[in-house]
Amino acid sequence: MEAREAPRICFSVACSGMFASCASAASARIVARLCALVLVVAAGLGSELRVRVRLSDGLVTEEVLEADSERDAISLEFKQGDGTLITYVADFKQNVKIFRALILGELERGQNQYQGLCFVSRLNRNEIIPSESMARLRQKNPQAIRLAEERRGLEQLTMSVAVNLSRAWQLSSHIHNMCSEAGEAIYTREADVKHWLDKGVDGSTFEMLPQTAEAPGFQACHSTTDMWQPCLCTYSLRLEWYPCLLKYCRSRDGTGKSSSYKCGIKSCSKGYHFTFYVPQKQLCLWDEET
Ligand SMILES: *[C@@H]1O[C@H](CO)[C@@H](O)[C@H](O)[C@H]1NC(C)=O
Repeated sequence: MEAREAPRICFSVACSGMFASCASAASARIVARLCALVLVVAAGLGSELRVRVRLSDGLVTEEVLEADSERDAISLEFKQGDGTLITYVADFKQNVKIFRALILGELERGQNQYQGLCFVSRLNRNEIIPSESMARLRQKNPQAIRLAEERRGLEQLTMSVAVNLSRAWQLSSHIHNMCSEAGEAIYTREADVKHWLDKGVDGSTFEMLPQTAEAPGFQACHSTTDMWQPCLCTYSLRLEWYPCLLKYCRSRDGTGKSSSYKCGIKSCSKGYHFTFYVPQKQLCLWDEET
């Protein structure tokens, strides 16, 4: 068996000196031919990628993906059809991921213009490609509407602990900027807290919320009628398109030695379903119709 796997890719990771084996002109040419419609191996290292994706409600939105090599982080941001701005940050330096939803308030119901929610959790290995690869990602046809190659299910996250904004820098330097609009609504999971405490994070960073799972005292917000009652709120979001894995291609040099190099990405879509305590039902009005 010989040579190259046909790269079924629509995105390429641009080559540079860092990936020595990537430089083979011949294989670059073949990659270019196979993916002629949608692929380009670009020079230069601009770190922003704008990808058009279709959301589950059918609406097409533009997702902005940015890599910050210096801080070793990736951010992803898009606006939903209902006006909610979703931001996701993967902080590889501290292995933390942050989700933020800025939900448009209903002014006629006495709400603020925006309601911010922040969810902080540990970033696992191989959830998303490294920031240095993200910084090299290019697409040839930016107008194309992308569909993720793999659609992953909905992850359930019980966020039973509140994070103190002014101490959150211990978890990730990104939280302060991202979550200041969320105020008190910065949540995390108990299991993540245990991990961070073991690593020496100060206990006063966290506040246990009234128990979420086994709390007969608290109803789901959608079945609570009193606007001022505490209840269990849920919020779902989906990252419709993100580069979740690197693809490798093989090449052979003049002496017949084969080697592999990064030649593209696999894209994924993944949903997240958060459950968390709110002190008043009116902080959870989107939960009404479920
Ligand atoms: C969060 O931490 C700050 C500074 O350490 C403290 O002054 C404040 O009271 C804490 N906030 C809450 C809600 O516990």
